[in-house]
Amino acid sequence: MRILFLGDTVGRTGREAAAAALPVLRASLHVDLAIVNAENASHGFGLAPEMARALFDAGADVITLGNHAWDRREIIPYIAETPRLIRPLNFPPGTPGAGSVLVTLPDGRSALVLNVMGRLFMDALDCPFRTTAEALARYRLGGTVSAIVVDLHAEASSEKMAFAHSFDGAVSLVVGTHTHCPSADHQVLPGGTAFMSDAGMCGDYDSVIGMQKEPAGQRFWRKLPGERLAPAEGEATVCGVFMETDATTGLAKRIEPIRMGGRLSSAMPVA
Ligand SMILES: [Fe+2]
Ligand SMILES: [Fe+2]
Repeated sequence: MRILFLGDTVGRTGREAAAAALPVLRASLHVDLAIVNAENASHGFGLAPEMARALFDAGADVITLGNHAWDRREIIPYIAETPRLIRPLNFPPGTPGAGSVLVTLPDGRSALVLNVMGRLFMDALDCPFRTTAEALARYRLGGTVSAIVVDLHAEASSEKMAFAHSFDGAVSLVVGTHTHCPSADHQVLPGGTAFMSDAGMCGDYDSVIGMQKEPAGQRFWRKLPGERLAPAEGEATVCGVFMETDATTGLAKRIEPIRMGGRLSSAMPVA
């Protein structure tokens, strides 16, 4: 299975770039399953239902979220009726929506997608390791499902690496989100799981993690509440990762970064 994952979509410039890139990448890389993290799609904070619809229409099969999941409150009723929009699995019991979704592809193969949040330097949630292990207990990679992808929304690369090694051999891909900076550590781990500690963002890199650099910088210079942060609106770089699974085992054959447009050096997998 050929899987595309795009990192945190930030603001209008990120949304539009991700929506424009999705059909192009789907076609050029023969993508079977496309996943987009959209926790920052709405002006940097949250996701509105019409923005989710636009990403689905552009070719996203699954949309994931993170700590900004509920910044746009309209998403709460929408997520309840939209199984392919998922929020972190380890939010408290009773939270609207689900933390995973089983997707059936047009050819009949199925893929499980999970969204989990780390705890280091983040909100105190349920244990991401234990909740993931419990969620995976019902599935067997290469048996009941052809692919398993985890969007690990976390700050600390140590937690991301520990998580990926913990599930090495049990899932197809662990890809980090949330830092908005693409890491250069993409690899197939010894047990066969593809890993990249952060996919990077779909947003303008002439910024502070996608937000306008002057007000964001002032927050560090002056310990005063500054003006509300707004997304930088220059040309976005579309950042993400492409991976291909083995048809029998569901484990990774390869993982390659994607960076398109904007300020970052480009990276494009060979089809
Ligand atoms: Fe983010
Ligand atoms: Fe985040």
